[in-house]
Amino acid sequence: MSFEQAAAIPVAAIPALQGLRDRGKIRSGQKVLITGASGGVGTFAVQIAKSYGAHVTGVCSTGKLDFVRSIGADHVIDYTQGNYFTGGQRYDLILAASGYRSIFEYRRALSPGGTYVCVGGTFAQYFQAMLLGPLISVVGSRKLGSKLGNPKQEDLVLLAELCEAGKVVPVIDRCYPLSQVADALEYYGEGRAKGKVVITVAHDR
Ligand SMILES: NC(=O)c1ccc[n+]([C@@H]2O[C@H](COP(=O)([O-])OP(=O)(O)OC[C@H]3O[C@@H](n4cnc5c(N)ncnc54)[C@H](OP(=O)(O)O)[C@@H]3O)[C@@H](O)[C@H]2O)c1
Repeated sequence: MSFEQAAAIPVAAIPALQGLRDRGKIRSGQKVLITGASGGVGTFAVQIAKSYGAHVTGVCSTGKLDFVRSIGADHVIDYTQGNYFTGGQRYDLILAASGYRSIFEYRRALSPGGTYVCVGGTFAQYFQAMLLGPLISVVGSRKLGSKLGNPKQEDLVLLAELCEAGKVVPVIDRCYPLSQVADALEYYGEGRAKGKVVITVAHDR
């Protein structure tokens, strides 16, 4: 693994892993929906969920559907085509890494006993999950909440093992030297990147 690939892992892959495994209790055969599937967190989440044997649906924009399929998603949904929750599809686990949907929409999209874990998106989305999620979870069998990534050595070791086994590949769209960090942020801000944009420090020497 290159230093760039290694650097892409901790901040993005940790919430993906801990959201799916610790909060989501992911199991083989489950139907899992991942929003923000083409981004830094989502590209890890799709691959980690597949490594657990889940059936994964990834949500992203039109131009990145093939890309999200290429990293392992069984099914893809284009969020630019309107509300993707209107079809009546139900999921055992939803990991939200982006966008905004009300917590009640997420609840309706869960199967009985299903779990919704918010790891990112708008502040409104995250705070709804953090504050309302535990309250809503009191009634019925569906569980809703949030997860902040907590960097732990054993989880980084596990992620390294998944990478060594070829089950997870850090997706890097572009690398920029530190001197071009403004260009890197501008590119990232345009929303065209797939996976991670990495800053390399050593190239500046
Ligand atoms: N919990 C934690 O510990 C933790 C750690 C790191 C990051 N985060 C948070 O996780 C979130 C994702 O981070 P990231 O680095 O993966 O971001 P990113 O690389 O910018 O990816 C953003 C993703 O969101 C999708 N997206 C954009 N607008 C959307 C919309 N309106 N509806 C649905 N999806 C939309 C993008 O799809 P397209 O590119 O196809 O448009 C892309 O897949 C951020 O909110 C970040 O703050 C949380």
